[in-house]
Formats: sequence, C-alpha cells, structure tokens
Amino acid sequence: MLRIAIDGPSGSGKSTLAKAVARELGIIYVDTGALYRTVGYYVYSVGADPHDAHLVESLLKNVDIELKYVDGAQRVILNGEDLGDKIRMPEMSMYASAVSSIPAVRAFLLEMQKKMARENSVVMDGRDIGTVIIPDADLKIFLTASNETRAERRTAELICKGVKVNYEDVLADMIERDKNDKNRDIAPAIPAEDAIIFDNSAMTVEESLKEIVRLVNERA
Ligand code: DC
Repeated sequence: MLRIAIDGPSGSGKSTLAKAVARELGIIYVDTGALYRTVGYYVYSVGADPHDAHLVESLLKNVDIELKYVDGAQRVILNGEDLGDKIRMPEMSMYASAVSSIPAVRAFLLEMQKKMARENSVVMDGRDIGTVIIPDADLKIFLTASNETRAERRTAELICKGVKVNYEDVLADMIERDKNDKNRDIAPAIPAEDAIIFDNSAMTVEESLKEIVRLVNERA
C-alpha cells in the first residue's frame, strides 16, 4: 500500500502533478476538491447561501455523492447525476471554499476520503490530506507556486475549458479563496509538520514529476 498526500493552494499544479504521479506509479488519483465542489454545486442548485452553516448542514441529508473511475479518470456522481465539468466553473470554486469551512460538511466527507485511502494505494490531493485524511501518508508534499504563476495557470486552464475569464479576476478570486481556506477554524489549508514544501513556480510538470517519483522511491 502506498499513500501519497499532495496538498496546496489552488493553481499550485496539484491536480496535474498528482494525476501524473498516479499514472507513473499505477495507482489511483483522488481529487478531494471535487467533493467540496459537489456539495457547493448542490447548495448553488437549490439557491441556498453557502455561508449559512445551519442551512447547508440541513441540506446534507439530500446529498448522495459517489466517486467513480471511468478509464482511470475520477467522476463525481451527485444523486445519480454525473456532474462532469459543471463543478469546475469559477463560481463553484467560491461555493466550494465557503462550504468547506463548515464543520458538518467536512464531517460528511471525511469517512469517504479515509475509506478510499484505507482500501487503495492512492495519490490524494486537497488541503488537509497530510494533516487530517492520511496523517500517516508515506509521502506528504505541500505544493506551492507564486500567486502570479498560479493565476496564470488557472486562467489558461479555464480558457481551455471554454470559460470566459480574465487574469485579474482569477487572481483576485484566488487570493480571496486562499485567505478563506488558510484561516478557517477547521482543517485549515496549511502544511503538515512533516510535509515537504515544494515550490514548483519555475519547474515544468515533467521536472516536478521526476522529483516526486524520486522522493517516493527514497521513502519506499
Ligand atoms: O482543489 P479545489 O480548488 O478543487 O478545491 C475547492 C475548494 O474545496 C477549496 O477552496 C478548498 C476546499 N477543499 C478543502 O477544504 N479540503 C480539501 N481536501 C480539498 C478542497
């Protein structure tokens, strides 16, 4: 069993890198941000305020989330519907960030994530993987990059998906979301004490992948 935790802020390149590491090692990639995005999407779809903790908590009984793997790619199924890229819209990032600071939401998604990591060799990415979900991971990486690099990557990614955005808005949204994620009371997005801080601003995906595989081999 091999369990790798990759945490870090949005746009740090977590998902691209985690996917590549999982492919290279032949293990499952779990994108935990997708789970928070799915709860956020549900709250949005019923027109509720994502900051209203009591209301959001009361809605959770109507939320059934399932993770599926189709050709190795993770799909999130909400109440029987495959949400596809609907959860990737910039608005959903804010909904996800808002609901992720509600303790009941984190508790709701906790066991599902722990179970995935208990039963499979995984590369899991998120904000609290090394601190809460897999505290005994074989390797913990906290991935960072400069704000500008992260906003450039996020803008390019969204434009590629056909979403109309501009760099300034993406940068401002990202800074606000980082602030929410880092300063929340529960499971704040901060590195585990034993995480390796990995700044990949000046690195290509191939270089970062090589370095992480080297670290995995060193630990194994
Ligand atoms: O990684 P992402 O951008 O898809 O995550 C969306 C939001 O979900 C992010 O703003 C914070 C939250 N999140 C979290 O609190 N804990 C995780 N393990 C993953 C994501």
